[in-house]
Amino acid sequence: MEAHAVNPWVAVAYLVAGVCFILALRGLSSPATSRAGNRYGMFGMAIAVATTLVTHEIASLPEIGAAIVLGGGIGFVIARRIQMTAMPQLVAAFHSLVGLAAVLVAVAAFLNPDAFGILGDDGNILTVSRVEMALGAAIGAITFSGSVIAFAKLNGNMSGAPILLPARHLINLGTLVVILALTAMFTVAASAGPGENPLFWAVVALSFAIGFLLIIPIGGADMPVVVSMLNSYSGWAAAAMGFTLHNTAMIITGALVGSSGAILSYIMCKAMNRSFISVIAGGFGADAGGAGEGGAKEQRPWKRGSAEDAAFLMKEAENVIIIPGYGMAVAQAQHALREMTDLLKEHGVNVKFAIHPVAGRMPGHMNVLLAEASVPYDEVFELEDINSEFAQADVAFIIGANDVVNPAAKTDKSSPIYGMPVFDVDKAKTIFFIKRSMGGQGYAGVDNDVFYMDQTMMLLADAKKMVEEINKSLTD
Ligand code: TAP
Repeated sequence: MEAHAVNPWVAVAYLVAGVCFILALRGLSSPATSRAGNRYGMFGMAIAVATTLVTHEIASLPEIGAAIVLGGGIGFVIARRIQMTAMPQLVAAFHSLVGLAAVLVAVAAFLNPDAFGILGDDGNILTVSRVEMALGAAIGAITFSGSVIAFAKLNGNMSGAPILLPARHLINLGTLVVILALTAMFTVAASAGPGENPLFWAVVALSFAIGFLLIIPIGGADMPVVVSMLNSYSGWAAAAMGFTLHNTAMIITGALVGSSGAILSYIMCKAMNRSFISVIAGGFGADAGGAGEGGAKEQRPWKRGSAEDAAFLMKEAENVIIIPGYGMAVAQAQHALREMTDLLKEHGVNVKFAIHPVAGRMPGHMNVLLAEASVPYDEVFELEDINSEFAQADVAFIIGANDVVNPAAKTDKSSPIYGMPVFDVDKAKTIFFIKRSMGGQGYAGVDNDVFYMDQTMMLLADAKKMVEEINKSLTD
C-alpha cells in the first residue's frame, strides 16, 4: 500500500495556516482581542487557499476559478440581501452545504478512487480510505439533513414544535448501530472496486435518515444548541473530506470547527440547563409541551408607560440595568440605545448591560450589536455575573427581550423554557418593557408574567422609535 506523498513545503504552509486558525480562535474568545483574532483567521485562510491553488491536483485552475466565482457570487448576493434577524437560518443553510459537499466528495472518491490516489493494486479501494469515505459520507449526510430541518424550523417552513415519534431513542440508537455495522462491513468487504459495493449507498441513505430523525424532535427554544451542534458536525464533515482529499489544512480546520462547535454547544447547554448528551441523542426538552403554541391567554391588568415616564425615572435612578433581546436586533436600536446610556451617564446614572447567553437568535448576537454601537465592553455583563445585582437596581430596562426574562422558566414545569436560567428582573424596583404589542410573544411562544407585575410599565412601540423618544425627553 503506497502512502500518499506530501510535499514538505505544503505541509509547513498548512501547519502555519493551522497555527493561525488556533490563534484566531484564541483571539475570538474575548471581545477585546477579537479583531486580532479575525486578522489571524484571514491570514491563515489566505495561506491555505494560496497553497491549494499552487499545488492543486484534482481540479484544474480554470475549474477552481469557475467554482470560486460561482460560489462566491451566490454567497455575495445572499450576504447582501440577508436580514440580520435571518442569520440563524442562513447559518443552518450553510452548514447543510458543508455536509452535502462532504457527501459529494466521498461519492466522487467512491466512484473514481483512482483520481484520488486511493485505488489499491488489487483493484479495490484502500481499506483505510473506505473507512474515511464511509465515515465522511455518514457525518456529511447527518449534517445535511439535520441542517435542512433546522433551517425549515427556524425559517418558519415547518412548525417549531417538537415532532415526537414513539420509541424515538430506540430508533435513533438502532439506526446508528446499523450505520456503524455497515461501515465495518464495507471496510472489510472482499469486493470494493470503483462504485462497486452497495453497502456504501446504504450508509449514505441511513445517515440522511438519522440526521432528519435527530432534529425533528427538538422544539422551539432549544434550537440555539442545535445550530451550534450542527456547526460542530459540519466541522467534522470537513475534516473527513480532508482525509479523503489528503488535505492537512482541511483536517486541521475541520477538527478546530468541530471541537470549538462542540465546546460552544456544551457551554450553551449549561447556560440553558440542558443535558449535553441528550442534545446529541436528539429530542431533549421535547417532553415539555407547548413550544410555539401560544395557548389561550387570559386578560390580566397591565400598565402602559410613556417615553417621558421612562426618561424621568431613569434620570433619577442610581442603577439601571438594560436587558437587550431579539427585538433590539429587529429594530436595529443599538445606536439609539448607546446614545441613551451616554445621556444617562451624564445624569450620574450607573448603567450596565445584561446579556443572556441565548438572547437574540445566534450566539453572541447581542454582543456583536452592542460592539457595533461602541458600547464599552466593561459595561456588558454575562448572566451569572449580573443576576444578583437586580435586587439593587432601580430600573430594569427590557428592550426586545422576552424569553430570557420570563419567570415561567423558574416556576412553570409545563413551560417549554422551564429550567433555563433567566434574569431576575422582578427584583428591580421598576421595570420598563419595550415591545410592540401585548400579543406578540417571545421565541418560545409563551405569555410572560413580567408584563403584569405591579412595578412594570409596558412601553409598546418599535424599540428604536421608543428609545429615540426617550433620548428626546432626556435632552429636553
Ligand atoms: P424573544 O423571546 O424572541 O422575544 C423577542 C421580543 O422582541 C418579543 O417580545 C417581541 O414582541 C419583541 N420585538 C420584536 N420586534 C421588535 C421591535 N421592532 N421593537 C420592539 N420589540 C420587538 O427574545 P429573547 O429574549 O432575546 O430570547 C431569545 C429566544 O430565542 C430564546 O427563547 C432562545 O432560546 C431563542 N433562540 C436563540 C438563539 C440564540 S443562539 N441566541 C437561536 C435561536 C433561538 P413584539 O412582537 O410584541 O414586538
